[in-house]
Amino acid sequence: MNRIFSGVQPTGNLHLGNYLGAIRNFVALQDDYDCVYCVVDMHAITQWQEPGELKAHTREVTAAYLAAGIDPKRCIIFNQSQVAAHAELAWIFNCVARLGWLNRMTQFKDKAGKHREAASAGLYVYPNLMAADILLYKATHVPVGEDQKQHLELTRDIAQKFNNDFGVELFPLTEPLIFGAATRVMSLRDGKNKMSKSDPSDASRINMTDDADAIAKKIRRATTDSELLPGPDILDENRRVPEAARAARPEAYNLLGIYAALSEKSVEAVLEEFAGAQFSRFKAALTELALAVLGPIGAEMRRLRDDPGAVDAVLRDGAERARAIAEPVLEEAYRAVGYLRP
Ligand code: AMP
Ligand code: TRP
Repeated sequence: MNRIFSGVQPTGNLHLGNYLGAIRNFVALQDDYDCVYCVVDMHAITQWQEPGELKAHTREVTAAYLAAGIDPKRCIIFNQSQVAAHAELAWIFNCVARLGWLNRMTQFKDKAGKHREAASAGLYVYPNLMAADILLYKATHVPVGEDQKQHLELTRDIAQKFNNDFGVELFPLTEPLIFGAATRVMSLRDGKNKMSKSDPSDASRINMTDDADAIAKKIRRATTDSELLPGPDILDENRRVPEAARAARPEAYNLLGIYAALSEKSVEAVLEEFAGAQFSRFKAALTELALAVLGPIGAEMRRLRDDPGAVDAVLRDGAERARAIAEPVLEEAYRAVGYLRP
């Protein structure tokens, strides 16, 4: 059986990158896989979260899942801290993963920044908890954006070492699923930076809960350059944008990529459509498209914000179904390790 697991952190400001890089793909996969979608609140607290806001943000990610079209009957939707097995398996993985492996993780370096000594120990072992998330469900595939690729390689290393060390065939070697025209959406203000929840400038991202005015304004003000839009002749022999072209005009290719992803067209088709156009015409079309796709999702998220009881009920039911899968796997891991069990 093929099973999907993925997660999003409840750290506020869910944005277009989260939608195009992850959540939209979650929706598409539910027809063909047994899917488990988590709101990873335990990962969130590896960096400071205001306790009063964490709950609201947990409900917000859940609302985004539901509003985007994930069906809570077919899929399991839950928040991580309600299933204790995640913390329990993560401890074992803390003892399987090597410091040398963790030292290579670029996300830790990015997030800890210059204040490495002040980072939490949780931020450092973050990838071990992520491996526990995935392997508790023996997930075969994990849909994520580009930035999570390295963590999935570590998950495979942990699964392999655990199986080897304890002489079992317990954990699968999970494959990442990175697909869609926008696996790495960049900031609207600076095309060299990733669109991110933590960018201090709200104008750098389109939030999933932004209303029509905010979306229109952010696209209108998005950074561009002074040239006309390129045509399909820019593409290389694999029909991809060459790195050098992207590096020369990061904002232009970011907006073109967003347009392609939202319209579900190829970048080539979008380049054909807008070859030689002014940014003003392109931005007007992009605004119309973004409103058509994101408008109904944002509206449903805002509606669910006023109905926390309904959201909490989904998470409660999901946690119960998640525990039913995770607990027996944890028990197998405990027995493999040699713990004395009742
Ligand atoms: P996070 O916000 O870090 O919890 O990320 C949740 C999901 O969104 C992960 O699968 C990320 O890979 C994906 N994601 C985050 N930012 C971006 C981005 N700028 N472009 C594409 N995917 C992203
Ligand atoms: N680390 C992921 C992120 O920041 C979130 C995450 C936690 C996750 N556990 C996961 C993603 C398991 C996929 C599978 O985006």
